Amino acid sequence: MLKHCVALLIALLFSNGSTYAQLSDQEMTRRADSLIAQMTVEEKLGQLNQVAGDLSNFKRVAGILPVQFQQIREGKIGSMLMVYGADLTRKAQEAAMQSRLKIPVLFGFDVIHGYRTTFPIPLAESCAWDVELAERTARMAATEAAAAGIHWTFAPMVDIARDPRWGRVIEGAGEDPYLGSLIAAARVRGFQGADLSADNTILACVKHFVAYGAAEGGRDYNTVDVSERTLREIYFPPFKAAIDAGAATLMTSFNEISGTPATLSRFLMTDVLRGEWNFKGMVVSDWESINESRVHGAAKTNDDAAVLAINAGVDMDMEGELYVNLAKEVRAGKVSDAVLNQAVRRVLLAKFKLGLFDDPFRYCNAEREKALVLNPAHRALAREAAQKSIVLLKNDKNMLPLRKDLKTLAVIGGLAESKRDMLGEWEMVGRPEDAVSVLDGIKKQVSDKTTVIYSKGYEATRGKESLSKAGFVEAIKAAKKSDAVVVVVGETADMTGEAHSRASLDLPGVQEDLIKELHTLNKPMVVVLTNGRPLSIVWTAEKVPAIVEAWHLGIEAGNAIADVLFGDVNPSGKLTMTFPRSVGQIPIYYNHKNTGRPINPQNPNDRYKSRYIDLDNTPLYPFGYGLSYSSFEYKNLRVSQREFRGSESVTITVDVTNNSTVAGEEVVQLYVRDDVASVTRPVKELKGFKKLRIGGGETKQAVFTISAKDLMFLDRAFKPTMEAGTFTVFVGGNSAQTLDEKLEYLP
Ligand code: NOJ
Repeated sequence: MLKHCVALLIALLFSNGSTYAQLSDQEMTRRADSLIAQMTVEEKLGQLNQVAGDLSNFKRVAGILPVQFQQIREGKIGSMLMVYGADLTRKAQEAAMQSRLKIPVLFGFDVIHGYRTTFPIPLAESCAWDVELAERTARMAATEAAAAGIHWTFAPMVDIARDPRWGRVIEGAGEDPYLGSLIAAARVRGFQGADLSADNTILACVKHFVAYGAAEGGRDYNTVDVSERTLREIYFPPFKAAIDAGAATLMTSFNEISGTPATLSRFLMTDVLRGEWNFKGMVVSDWESINESRVHGAAKTNDDAAVLAINAGVDMDMEGELYVNLAKEVRAGKVSDAVLNQAVRRVLLAKFKLGLFDDPFRYCNAEREKALVLNPAHRALAREAAQKSIVLLKNDKNMLPLRKDLKTLAVIGGLAESKRDMLGEWEMVGRPEDAVSVLDGIKKQVSDKTTVIYSKGYEATRGKESLSKAGFVEAIKAAKKSDAVVVVVGETADMTGEAHSRASLDLPGVQEDLIKELHTLNKPMVVVLTNGRPLSIVWTAEKVPAIVEAWHLGIEAGNAIADVLFGDVNPSGKLTMTFPRSVGQIPIYYNHKNTGRPINPQNPNDRYKSRYIDLDNTPLYPFGYGLSYSSFEYKNLRVSQREFRGSESVTITVDVTNNSTVAGEEVVQLYVRDDVASVTRPVKELKGFKKLRIGGGETKQAVFTISAKDLMFLDRAFKPTMEAGTFTVFVGGNSAQTLDEKLEYLP
């Protein structure tokens, strides 16, 4: 009842019949401005202030401190993060309804790969090369979060990642800007749906603008030094794609760009974002990133930092509590009314669009929140996403799939029984008890005649590499008794994610030693990797017959892994980040430049070439790589015409034959190289892909169409251009093994 009265009151505030969320942009802006006209400077600054709730027991219960409730009543908090739950957010909105202007609070949350239903980490999900899947998981995550009072996710993270040492590679779609852009747009569509005011959609926040993934040495938060060309060609595109898809908000990054902390960069936040891309949404800083510009050495005081940030175009201050104290600077004219009002307008428009002015409680729905927890349809999607994210790295002599009726199967490795690590490092409200471990997944799927013997071998302890070999003896005993051995190794979730960079890409601790000892037994052996980044598993790759890359796959991890191990699902994932042989090769990515002295594959020891004296240049596994239980052969690459001009398009066709008896899916990839241009071009750039389902013995065609607009690049003034000349077209099942053809664009 109370809820309805308050909603009615607010509606009456500017009422002319229609709901706020349905107003035209122009009318909505007019309403926002008339509200702004009634606000004091302090109330305006309050709208720009985002604070975290009570973090003392965050993982168990969300909380809002009494003092924060009071600040909400005083109009000093416009937005909160790290707060969730229908009941708690309802209480906060009730407090907001007691403030002078009754402006609802905006609740942001890190819904990175699922809310309560945890999906695969985004890096894993990108390996599905399934844009529709990315949209569906985001949609479902939004549905759950929105019922729990959340209006806004801090996702998608679209940072291109070329350095696997950086722990946050788990959150993005890997190293390629083309695939990354498609996934970025899909996730925005998924979170936001068609109508932001619906009770199952939330605002997306594309982050971190920009080049956060280029941190020197792969060390999180470190300095970035990147050319404007690389920014524009590599790091910008997924942001632009997300914005074109309608992303309502954007987050700045912690790093500096060309001597300016990104959070203070007018070039980024105003010139590029607003000027070039026409972004109309709201910009939020990252957590205290305005304050940190002092530490960068770019501002003397916190107030100076805040003035620089708001003038650069950053609308909301996340957890810095600086904007809220800026009244003096505003009155001194250091921040103009126009700048302040603009920032407030953007925050209010977001709230209007969500429908919060129509009903501040529309997202706090305890019954819906409860009904959605572990909803079977959500679990089913989590399993499907996990199955599709798995990448088969090696399968000599068709060691996989395993028979379900083996007499004895050994499952070895501390990670095999871990539920917590399957959730990944952004588990937030996800719960370990909801997850299926690899061991449980396997046990459920073997025949009732099969004995599964589990032995840890090593400890998978959070925060610690396992250095003890005490468990080896028992593990070897278990393996000796068994017909086949599944060894689960990798990284605990907390070896990945924010502030979890690694200097080594080896399997942590004693895990490789364990694999080596088990290998001496000459048993059929499969290594399952559960990890959050490419690893340099050279020895394993050479010696172990079967390797499954299973990442951190979410609550259905164990079931999906067992589905693949026993052949109910034929793996189809392809890597979206290159696996190096050694950390010394980093950065290593497929779309590199050629240099003037590329290595000569016919004579790799040719001295004065761009190479290492102690290691191959090639990766362990290239971008786009992944096997299947089917065996695909590529033949007859052909182009519809060798020469093209103007807006003509060329059709590129290849035949893909499944030479096995098992139906499977293959991601057919199209790459292009611009052979000679006024600006050097990468040796290969992904320009398209098709996921084909091909029956045993069947041949299917993959057909691509390209035209000049797909082949343009940025000229010296960063304007898109197309130059006459030849292009090499490559098609294959990964970026390294391809068929090729030539095309020529005529003037
Ligand atoms: C800091 C992280 O960099 C950002 O990605 C995240 O959204 C915020 N913390 C809020 O948790």
